[in-house]
Amino acid sequence: MEKIVVTDMMRALISGRGPEWVLTEVPVPQPGPGQVLIRNRAAATNNADLPMLAEADPTRGGHGKEFIAGFEYAGEIIALGAGVETWKIGDSVMGSIPSSFAEYVVADHRFVLPRPTGLAPETACALPTGLLTEHGALSTAGFVSGQSVLITGASSAIGLIGAQIAKSLGASQIIGTTRTAGKRDLLTEAGVDTVIVTDEQDLTEATLAATGGKGVDVVLDHVAGQTFAQCLSATAVDGHVVNIGRLAGPVSTIDIDALSYRHLTVHGVSFGFTRDVEMAGIIAGLLPEVIPAVAHDRIRPVIDRTVNITDFAQAAGRLRSGEAVGKIVIRP
Ligand SMILES: NC(=O)c1ccc[n+]([C@@H]2O[C@H](COP(=O)([O-])OP(=O)(O)OC[C@H]3O[C@@H](n4cnc5c(N)ncnc54)[C@H](OP(=O)(O)O)[C@@H]3O)[C@@H](O)[C@H]2O)c1
Repeated sequence: MEKIVVTDMMRALISGRGPEWVLTEVPVPQPGPGQVLIRNRAAATNNADLPMLAEADPTRGGHGKEFIAGFEYAGEIIALGAGVETWKIGDSVMGSIPSSFAEYVVADHRFVLPRPTGLAPETACALPTGLLTEHGALSTAGFVSGQSVLITGASSAIGLIGAQIAKSLGASQIIGTTRTAGKRDLLTEAGVDTVIVTDEQDLTEATLAATGGKGVDVVLDHVAGQTFAQCLSATAVDGHVVNIGRLAGPVSTIDIDALSYRHLTVHGVSFGFTRDVEMAGIIAGLLPEVIPAVAHDRIRPVIDRTVNITDFAQAAGRLRSGEAVGKIVIRP
């Protein structure tokens, strides 16, 4: 293994100084009891990065509290805090925690994921939030092999991972939505059997048509807005609808009849608000079911582009454009 020299200071992208991230030097964090220190080789952007940057911008009424941006990382463990026995120095890891746009990150050892041999950090860093969120959502819905799944906003970075997880866990049929006809192949390559282009087709009608009028067993909804309402009538009796994202906004007017007559269960999941006790369960399910599929190349993130941390403005611009397909990776 390459010899790693830990300096006192590290480069990091800070939010809270203005409308853009600022590349600066901050102290390298030290692992406390139960924590590990990770040399971060690559970090991936998330949909939440820009809203959090804007909320912190003191020049436009934001709270002005500085923090290291970013959520996903991949690298190797270089120091162990007191009491950590499940990891050793040199282990290849990946994970999802705040403050990942930096050369080093500290993480609670319980929530670090093993990075399969041969999976490059630039690929691995784009997986953890998708793996944890999508597998957690499927588990919340009580998904079992042989059930059908509808994924709205299936072209989103985490939606594409959700489709691959559902396929890998034995979904009988995966239906995915996009607004953009040009993304059909992207969805098909991720394992989506039936693509619904919502700018051209009615989501409810198309889903019922694709399922012989029955509807799907499980919905993973990344879009919300009126799409969430349309999902209810597209779900089978006793089915589960899990809201994950609000790409079209958080407000929806729903037909309660659709909910009640079908005996549906609606869930909300928010990985960022997951309590430690719940996270332990999510990781316990992920390790045997999903990490082997990652190791066998059945689950791969879609990466829009990879930039060096010094080119952070390019990453922010690409995120703002709304044209990125998949994750933008930042090399610290
Ligand atoms: N619950 C959680 O724990 C959790 C965790 C991570 C992310 N999320 C949420 O999940 C969602 C997806 O995250 P991401 O980072 O994977 O997203 P992303 O990659 O940025 O998704 C971008 C894609 O979403 C689609 N989209 C954008 N605006 C839309 C709209 N108004 N209506 C319908 N589709 C729209 C577009 O695809 P088309 O052109 O194909 O329509 C776009 O290419 C976000 O809302 C995010 O905040 C939730």
